[in-house]
Amino acid sequence: LISRAFRHQFIIPDWPSFTKHIEDFYWKCKTNTEGKVASYIPQLARMNPEYWGVSVCTIDGQRFSIGDTSIPFTLQSCSKPLTYAIALDRLGPEVVHQYVGQEPSGRNFNELVLDYDKKPHNPMINAGAILICSLLKTLVKPEMALAEKFDFTINYFKRLAGEESLGFNNAVFLSEREAADRNYALGFYMREHNCYPDKTNLREIMDFYFQCCSMEANCEAMAVMAATLANGGICPITEEKVLKPESVRDVLSLMHSCGMYDYSGQFAFKVGIPAKSGVSGSLLVVIPNVMGICMWSPPLDPLGNSCRGVQFCEELVREFNFHRY
Ligand code: DON
Repeated sequence: LISRAFRHQFIIPDWPSFTKHIEDFYWKCKTNTEGKVASYIPQLARMNPEYWGVSVCTIDGQRFSIGDTSIPFTLQSCSKPLTYAIALDRLGPEVVHQYVGQEPSGRNFNELVLDYDKKPHNPMINAGAILICSLLKTLVKPEMALAEKFDFTINYFKRLAGEESLGFNNAVFLSEREAADRNYALGFYMREHNCYPDKTNLREIMDFYFQCCSMEANCEAMAVMAATLANGGICPITEEKVLKPESVRDVLSLMHSCGMYDYSGQFAFKVGIPAKSGVSGSLLVVIPNVMGICMWSPPLDPLGNSCRGVQFCEELVREFNFHRY
């Protein structure tokens, strides 16, 4: 980092002017009071709608944060690209995509629907993510008990985050499990259609899925995860090669087409960069070969995306030419 600084070879050469723009967008979006905090479990319903944070980490390790960037939130659906990445890295895309498709579903994230092949449409919706959990449980190190598999997974997440601290919110986990009729319905529906690699212990798979949703991080750690994806799988902070570049490419392709719920097409059109949102109000954005950004603000629009987060992305590409096309 230091030798690059002397050579003026940073990916964003004029960092102070760039971060000044980030600050301006941040304050502009802060005045946005649209949206509603998720209310299906009490722990999310209690979230302060005023929370708003943005963290940036470039592929050469330049970092900037503004707002509530050290308060932890649960990963929720932002865990989906991460578990998918682990499955790809360990099993390869041929195996993974025998079980899950690559097509946007055109439906809500928790809709009781499979594709024409009786597979979940993609790994970014609940059915697909539950299926990925079954692959991680049964095909990746099958000898591991669920507790071991939890450690295995959170360690992967930590390595993606450059060893920033990550946690687990047990109250959210317990609530998710209680409020999960639809997810269980999806789990059973997929078992009826022989979607899993074997006679799966469904209770374990569902618990594993809720555990992944209930892992906790803050904007600063999530920005590093996004930057690791922007950097082809090498963490810019630790320089550890966490994922293969082929796995990262597949993850970003599906974040691009399926990462923003049923707004993914419009987001790909207007913003044009891979992203994934979660119901706790987090929004992970990857600008390949440049940087990762994490935004967090609990109020969600009717499709489930963070209102301030989406507005921030639109401001960003209005000013900077990050749209892929
Ligand atoms: O499975 C659920 O309903 C949540 N725990 C995950 C929610 C979420 O962020 C929605 N995502 N696609």
